[in-house]
Amino acid sequence: MATKVVIGAQWGEEGKGKIIDILAQQSEVVVRSQGGNNAGHTVEADGKQYKLHLVPSGILNPETLNIIGNGVVVDPGVLLEELDMLKSQGVVTDNLKIDLRAHIIMPYHLVLDGLMEQARGKGDIGTTKKGIGPCYMDKAERIGIRLCDLLDPALFEEKARENTEYKNKLITKVFGGEALSADSFIKEYLGYADRLRPYAADTTPLLYDAVKAGKKVLFEGAQGTLLDLDLGTYPYVTSSHPISGGVCVGTGIGPTLIDECVGVMKAYTTRVGKGPFPTELEDETGEKIRQIGNEFGATTGRPRRCGWFDAVIGRFGVRTSGLTGIALNKLDTLTGLGDLKICTGYKKGDEIVTDFPASLTELAKCEPIYETLPGWDEDITGVRSFSELPATVKNYVKRIEELCGAKVIMVGVGPNREQNILR
Ligand code: GDP
Ligand code: IMO
Ligand code: MG
Repeated sequence: MATKVVIGAQWGEEGKGKIIDILAQQSEVVVRSQGGNNAGHTVEADGKQYKLHLVPSGILNPETLNIIGNGVVVDPGVLLEELDMLKSQGVVTDNLKIDLRAHIIMPYHLVLDGLMEQARGKGDIGTTKKGIGPCYMDKAERIGIRLCDLLDPALFEEKARENTEYKNKLITKVFGGEALSADSFIKEYLGYADRLRPYAADTTPLLYDAVKAGKKVLFEGAQGTLLDLDLGTYPYVTSSHPISGGVCVGTGIGPTLIDECVGVMKAYTTRVGKGPFPTELEDETGEKIRQIGNEFGATTGRPRRCGWFDAVIGRFGVRTSGLTGIALNKLDTLTGLGDLKICTGYKKGDEIVTDFPASLTELAKCEPIYETLPGWDEDITGVRSFSELPATVKNYVKRIEELCGAKVIMVGVGPNREQNILR
């Protein structure tokens, strides 16, 4: 099939970068549709590790056209740094296009992200403090600055001054922070504009023409289903739409043009930042998973909270994104852990809950119901075909697909491009 969406089906950090990089080798176009540099996608190829925040993970393939879609929020300084980093590692970056409608993260967004988190006190979200939420707020308020505005120096200066004056009132009078001077960043941003100009385009017809020509197009999700602004564990979510539907608004492509949706999951569950997490392990096993799996955030370096695989969440991901397949990563991390647990549903008083609840108050009353499966001790990092995996591993994978209601089409046994089993 020609057009494929790849999304995170848990709380982000599922290993989307690795899966995109593998699939990108057979793709002609790779597109990001939402989020910004709150994302951190790790790709390990040819003995090198790349942490990509804004540039689509198809960049390592020089034949692939990479698009940053209209729904992404772009910090221009961060993007240019990432491009410089890639160039210094010998990666060709000319094959990148950024949509003119993409919103720009401004210095006041970063300041406000920090101040708003501080003001939330104990109820903080644990954001990445990259200015993502405040930038999407301006988009919805209709005062955002888009790439097409940044490329028009007079218009940019006017909007930047107007917004800074307005934001300074919020910064000083509401949050007690220090006012920003527009003069301190306008020149710097106009410099970014000059460097980004060659990459700017209306990407929507490019994408449409590519799809219509039958080209292989891959949509690269960021974050994950439970961080979705509408369907996630609100308010402990990000400000965009990581579910598959987000791809349509974030790239200007219609839903009838999407053929397949792959959901990336870890063989257990992790979460960075605050918010509910029913299967969280705050014990030795959780610590073991964190150490063996090197579970530290790719963007902020924060330790990731770890827990057992939650099939209620898996089913929710399958349902809300219409997943046609699952890519199940990090099976190797579970090696040597002893018996493994999978959450099949929640118990709320006398009631059995099988659908992920909307209300966090209801979710707090839920206790996971576990099924125990035998673990394995064999080293599986070198296995390259499903049939060669130990029976215990195969059973674990099969049980996950049964409980989630979608086929596991890829199995990850290590971080490298090659450490992946196709079924
Ligand atoms: P993303 O945000 O979804 O792209 O995921 P991240 O890159 O933030 O985090 C996933 C981490 O898991 C990265 O360090 C990957 O290199 C690593 N990874 C991905 N798949 C596997 C796997 O199957 N096994 C192991 N051990 N590590 C993996
Ligand atoms: P990738 O694409 C995991 C989380 C933050 C916080 C919440 C809101 O690498 O999987 P934000 O800065 O977006 O306003 O923070 O969302 N978050 C992520 N968690 N992976 C990510 O991206 C994330 N991007 C945001 O930790 O809880
Ligand atoms: Mg990540």
